[in-house]
Amino acid sequence: MTHSAPIPAGANPAPTPDQLKTLVGRAALDYVVPGEIVGVGTGSTVNKFIDALATIADRIPGAVSSSEASTARLQALGIRVFDANAVERLSVYIDGADEIDGAGNMVKGGGAALTREKIVAALSQRFVCIVDESKRVSVLGAFPLPVEVIPMAAQRIARDFAALGGTATLRLRADGGPLVTDNGQHILDVRGLQIDQPLDFETRVSQWPGVVTVGVFAAQKADICLLGTASGEVQTLRF
Ligand code: 5RP
Repeated sequence: MTHSAPIPAGANPAPTPDQLKTLVGRAALDYVVPGEIVGVGTGSTVNKFIDALATIADRIPGAVSSSEASTARLQALGIRVFDANAVERLSVYIDGADEIDGAGNMVKGGGAALTREKIVAALSQRFVCIVDESKRVSVLGAFPLPVEVIPMAAQRIARDFAALGGTATLRLRADGGPLVTDNGQHILDVRGLQIDQPLDFETRVSQWPGVVTVGVFAAQKADICLLGTASGEVQTLRF
């Protein structure tokens, strides 16, 4: 159950969020298969994984990346990035999450990379989620649900979420303009939902015209979660 990675004696007993990200990022190396391409997610926790991956870069052919940001970091560290279309399947996909429930269902997309994340996860036999325990929830929905949408459909989709009890807002950049994803689309963040049937919800919302990707990962849920805890240990949860 416990993948032992304790904070050294004498160090601050309560690890910082950044230390926890480093711990789970390093722990994920155990799931990288030597000689095989690895699927790589996006976000501040995955950045720690990419940094750790660089230490074993000579043991893998490279990675399939889920965002321009991760691609840039991988390449800067000398890790070759393969096009997803060049790969038939991946043994493992390593990514963070904004929320994860007790069955391994997740909310993702806080970093706006949800579409490519779902694509790479769908190529992969095993999803290893790396998070700290603040991301663990009993029911998904407290974190605003990211939904990538075709811009001309945004207002209609927002009304459809209102009918479900949610409030959708367009994600903006720092300069006030709409955030544009790597795929040239927009993101709605939906507050006020309680997603107690994640697979049904994902299946239903995915069919709405103009929805590119809903940030519920139930069809591509985690198989394993490496959970950074306040004690400085990494727990391994299997679903
Ligand atoms: C990006 C994601 C990330 O995995 C999620 O937002 C978690 O990010 P972080 O590790 O920075 O907390 O889904 O689209």
